[in-house]
Order: sequence, then C-alpha cells, then structure tokens
Amino acid sequence: MERFLNRKVLLGVTGGIAAYKAAHVTRLLVKAGCEVQVVMTPSAHDFVTPLTLATLSKRPVLTELFARDGSGAWTDHVHLARWADVLVIAPATANTLAKMVHGICDNLLQACILSAACPVLVAPAMDLEMWKDPATQANLGQVKERGYWVVGPESGELASGLVGEGRMSEPERIVQELAARLQGASRLNGRTVLVTAGPTQEAIDPVRYIGNRSSGKMGFALAEEAAARGARVQLVTGPVALQLDRPGITRTDVGSAAEMAEACKRLAGACDAVIMSAAVADYRPAEPAGNKLKKKDAALEVRLEPTEDILASLGANKRAGQRIVGFALETDNELAHAQDKLVRKHLDLLVLNSLRDAGAGFATDTNKITLLAPGKDPHALPLMSKREAARAILDRLEEIL
Ligand code: CTP
Repeated sequence: MERFLNRKVLLGVTGGIAAYKAAHVTRLLVKAGCEVQVVMTPSAHDFVTPLTLATLSKRPVLTELFARDGSGAWTDHVHLARWADVLVIAPATANTLAKMVHGICDNLLQACILSAACPVLVAPAMDLEMWKDPATQANLGQVKERGYWVVGPESGELASGLVGEGRMSEPERIVQELAARLQGASRLNGRTVLVTAGPTQEAIDPVRYIGNRSSGKMGFALAEEAAARGARVQLVTGPVALQLDRPGITRTDVGSAAEMAEACKRLAGACDAVIMSAAVADYRPAEPAGNKLKKKDAALEVRLEPTEDILASLGANKRAGQRIVGFALETDNELAHAQDKLVRKHLDLLVLNSLRDAGAGFATDTNKITLLAPGKDPHALPLMSKREAARAILDRLEEIL
C-alpha cells in the first residue's frame, strides 16, 4: 500500500472478539504511513495480546492511567489526545459506547476520548442482540449527534454463530474511510509544498556567525500539518534543535542565507506552494575571514552586505497557479509595513506577527498572527499554539490554492 496517510493515530482497542481485527487495522495504518499509538482497555487484553499490537505499531501499548507499582507514574492522556490527529476506536463495544455517552472516565482510553480535540472515528462491534438493544441504539444516536464518525457495523455471520448486524467493518474499509474523511477534503492532498524554517547563520570567520533567535517551531509545525493533510513536503531548515515527528517530509538542512536560497530555488519550481517562515538574515559579513579572527585592542569592524531576498526572488518568478506565503515580524506600524511587503514581494498570503504581542514571535510555543491577502481585510487571530496557527495558515492557503 502506498504511504498516503501521514497521520498520528491514537487507536483505541476495547474488549470484544473483534479486537483481533485491531492487529490488521494497526498494520494497515502503519503501511499507509501513519504513526500509531495503541491504547487498550483492560478487557481488550483478554482478546488480543499487547505484544501483538506493540510489535505491529512499533510502540509500547498503553492501558493504565496510573502505574500500579506505587511509583506515582501516570500516563498523560491530555498530551496523548493532543498528539493525535485522529482517534480511532476499533472495535468499540456496547459498553464503550455507553460510557462515551455518559462521559465516564474509568480507564485511559475513556480519558483520551474525553480529552480529544481531534476527530474521533468509532467502529462498533457486538453481537446482534446487543446491537439491536434500544439502549445501544439510543447511545449510538447520541454518539452520532455529537459529531463522532461511526463506521459500520456490517451484517454477516457473527462470532456467536448468529447472522445479522454487529460485525465490525473490515479494517480496509476503516482505513479507507479515514483517508476519505481526513484528506479527501484537503486541497493540499497530493500537492507539493516547500516550507522554510529556522534562522540562518552568516559566517564572520570559521567559528563565529551572525544569527537570530528563531527556533524553527513555526516552520516545523507548518511542515507537519501540511504533511498530515496529504501534501508532499520539502522542508528547508536553518540550524535548529528540532526533530521531525512525521513521515511525508523531506528535510534539507542549510546554514547560510545563500545556501537556503540555493535550496529553495532548486526545489520551488516543482512546488504548488511556498511558505517562507524562515528568519533569513538580511545581511551577511561581506568578507568572512578564512581563519579565526584574533582578539586585538582596537575595535573590530565587520562590513555587512545584503543577502538575497529569497521570498522576493521566488515571488518575482512564481509560475501560474503557484502560491507564495511570506512572514513578517514587525515592531511598529505593523499593518502598513505588512501591506507593503505583500505587494512588493508578489505574495498571495502574508502572516504577520507583532513583537508587541505577548506570546508571539521567537522561541515561544504560541503565536498571535494576522493574515493578509491581496484585496482582503486583515484577519487577526487570537493567541494560539503554533500548531493551531499552522492549521489556520494552511486553512487559508487551501482557500486560495
Ligand atoms: N526573507 C527572505 N530572504 C531574506 C529575508 C527575508 O526570503 N533575505 C523572507 C522571510 O522568510 C519572511 C519575509 O521575507 O517570509 C519577511 O522578512 P522580513 O525580514 O520581515 O522582511 P524584509 O523584507 O526584510 O523587510 P524589513 O527588513 O523591512 O522588515
């Protein structure tokens, strides 16, 4: 199977006979390019071994909210739920459906369900009579009403020998359904996107450089979110301390603005969109020393020359249909400067941060942005995580792609 679904999937496995199919669901998701974290309910252990699911998902399986060894250790369900792009509960028993309806939180999976901010797909599986029971049907109605995606169950021979509705949908159908719902709708699906991130370093001599405080977090969040929406992502990054947490991204590491310019110009031609979130140095030492500069008593003067404005070059050479997104970090007269940049650099979208806003800018995990597009009123967004900001930027990009 092609790697088409670069998502982080929290797979909840509950205690029914169809739990054996969770192994196949896990395998298909991993083959499709997903990272899968399995969370089993305690009773699911009676039906399938954690070792099977851990081996297939390449991660230890989680079950307990609190360690039972007296150590005080616990599993951070909030973090897990935030990590996930989607929560899939397959199989979902009648008991789990009932607990979901009432917000019961007596195991790790239920805590994840309650904490989930992402879409939740539910694949019920149970015997015919349990499925037909008015309590289950009422619970199912509520679950659907609350916006959970319900897939199946199907009709056929059940484990009990009875024939009727209650079989969990086949793993292939669950994965197809997931792909269709998650990225069928995204205009980034199948497109190629170039994202730049981090600072650049401009050499003064072999050991010293001029740099800036960019952490790369915003660019990495954009690259990961674009990949999650099915885009092929080229990430060109300056020196940062970040690791990528998702497949579907090709990373090119560069040092200086000139190296970033070379990489971007080489890659941009094949890209449907370019997002320049890197904090590229505007100036570099005109004559970097070949050897380490020795300390002297006199003042040291380093003459600086402008670097190439990569964004302006890409904007001037953009091909039909290509969309260029720039960033601006301003300290004063923000909107006027940003409008000017939008026009001057031929941009389709500009993301403005103001250093005057608390929580915006470098090194933080949050950002406060305003989106500007030609002919549109500026759209100011509230303070949000960089991941949420990445989603907002890509939602806007999808509108103009
Ligand atoms: N940028 C670039 N190449 C450069 C400098 C900046 O591609 N040499 C890009 C950044 O990645 C960002 C945008 O240009 O997307 C805005 O950078 P900024 O430094 O704010 O804009 P400037 O045009 O340099 O304007 P000013 O210095 O007046 O703020």
